[in-house]
Amino acid sequence: MQNTPDHQGASPGAIRSVVVAGGGTAGWMAATYLAARLEGRGITITVLESHEIGTIGVGEATVPAIRDFFRMIGLHDFDVLRATGGTPKLGIDFAGWGGEDTRFFHPFGLYGLSSRGVPFHQYWLKLAHGGLVRDLGDYSLCTEMACNGAFMLPVDNPVNDLAVFDWAVHFDASRFAAMLRDLGQQRGVRLIDDVITRAVRDGETGHITSLETRGGLSIAGDLFIDCTGFRALLLGEAMGSAWVDWTDMLPCDRAVAMPCAASGGFDQPYTTSTARKAGWQWRIPLQHRVGNGYVYSSAHISDDEAAATLRAHLEGEALAEPNLIRFGAGHRREFWRGNCIGVGLAAGFLEPLESTSITLIQTALEKLVDLFPNCACDPALADEFNRATTLEYERIRDFLILHYHANGRHGEALWDHMRAAPPPEKLAHKLSLWRARGKLVRYEWEAFFDPSWLSMYAGFGIMPAAHDPMADHFTDQQVVEALDHMREAIRAAAAHARPARDFLARLAPQASRA
Ligand code: FDA
Repeated sequence: MQNTPDHQGASPGAIRSVVVAGGGTAGWMAATYLAARLEGRGITITVLESHEIGTIGVGEATVPAIRDFFRMIGLHDFDVLRATGGTPKLGIDFAGWGGEDTRFFHPFGLYGLSSRGVPFHQYWLKLAHGGLVRDLGDYSLCTEMACNGAFMLPVDNPVNDLAVFDWAVHFDASRFAAMLRDLGQQRGVRLIDDVITRAVRDGETGHITSLETRGGLSIAGDLFIDCTGFRALLLGEAMGSAWVDWTDMLPCDRAVAMPCAASGGFDQPYTTSTARKAGWQWRIPLQHRVGNGYVYSSAHISDDEAAATLRAHLEGEALAEPNLIRFGAGHRREFWRGNCIGVGLAAGFLEPLESTSITLIQTALEKLVDLFPNCACDPALADEFNRATTLEYERIRDFLILHYHANGRHGEALWDHMRAAPPPEKLAHKLSLWRARGKLVRYEWEAFFDPSWLSMYAGFGIMPAAHDPMADHFTDQQVVEALDHMREAIRAAAAHARPARDFLARLAPQASRA
């Protein structure tokens, strides 16, 4: 049977109109993604946003999957970098998390080479257990480039199998939303600028039938995507999906953000996360400015002190007044209820320690298309969406908690509390297997794979009691030689990378490549 190319042959009850409430990063990612994936099916897409209300205005660091999103909606990485003042990101530099004056790097890439089915890190552990301690970062091209302030595209990496890495981007969130708005409108997405006052529901099914606006409009639709940010006007307010609160596990509940001028130009192709007394500070380098923010627990520091701390640590002139943002960690119990799906902050939030909110928008949209309903919205589809998304949130939550649980900052109330708090069950299981024999465990719907967990364990100095005995089929001397060889190969590959600012300078409009 052939796929139906347009709506003429669509089955009765097929979705004909999708209404996206909210035009922040989530709303425009939803509109452009659905326009691309649903093309030719005769489905109209409407975005209802309000310039009066505006967007949250933060959310500038991503993970590599964002580049798949660009491709899916027909954008080239370089177009995004140019239009948004963006820069490449190789990972995150964690400063002060293991104690003042410590730092380690979480790279977007692999460490070393496995051999005989035994993961690389088991050989690295074998040497450490024999007193031959090596810096794990020496076996990561990504880390090596980041340390050098250098960048190249993975296709320019001359040592492919050994030095596998990926990259993400930093971008100006408002420029990104504007870029997607233009693209969406070019692709036929209808834009309405008005304030939503009410969601009207069908008395029998409970489905949303239309959104009423302050301007007197009534926008009807078959499927509603709630992208109204923390307000969650549709999923939370109208549909009553309860909030699952995780602030006991992740107590940071506020952020103060303040961009500043870049000192000395762009030379750090990575995000920096610096631990502070009551939380941590982000640094996100863009072409035209640096994004900064202090994420903190309001139980441990006042707003004024947090703002003063951030201001004191800016590298250049502040470009705006401090922007105070309140939030809580958690998510809606049901991400999809009836004919309403929450995406972005309307669905949930985890502090931006690993830049995961935008990737959660992306995976929500991928899952939605995978489970795309008809007008009946069979609850089985929603159940699967909710099951998978809950797991995804829990996995990320646990990865974030590890950062706090393993901290080495003694004598500061927040950090002492987080070290003492028992880890959630799945994280405790992972930690016990790592501590026993360096075993890395991956569950379904993990956003972070083995190298990310390894970077944390090694970065925090959590060393297992033993290594995999299978690594013992090589002698220490053989492993030393193999690892030395890998380190040299990675250094040689890194020498091909150029200063990161040169990479940006080469992003002239005609420099696009396939
Ligand atoms: P957002 O609030 O931006 O948009 C909501 C939209 O709904 C707006 O268009 C608004 O006008 C509209 N709206 C609301 N009520 C309405 C009404 N009644 N009528 C009409 N329209 C209405 N993520 C990440 O991946 N990397 C990062 O580095 C960070 N950093 C970060 C820092 C901090 C402090 C926070 C709080 C969050 C982040 N995030 C992040 C998360 C990121 O900011 C977020 O995921 C995206 O910006 C998406 O936001 P939304 O579009 O969901 O909400």
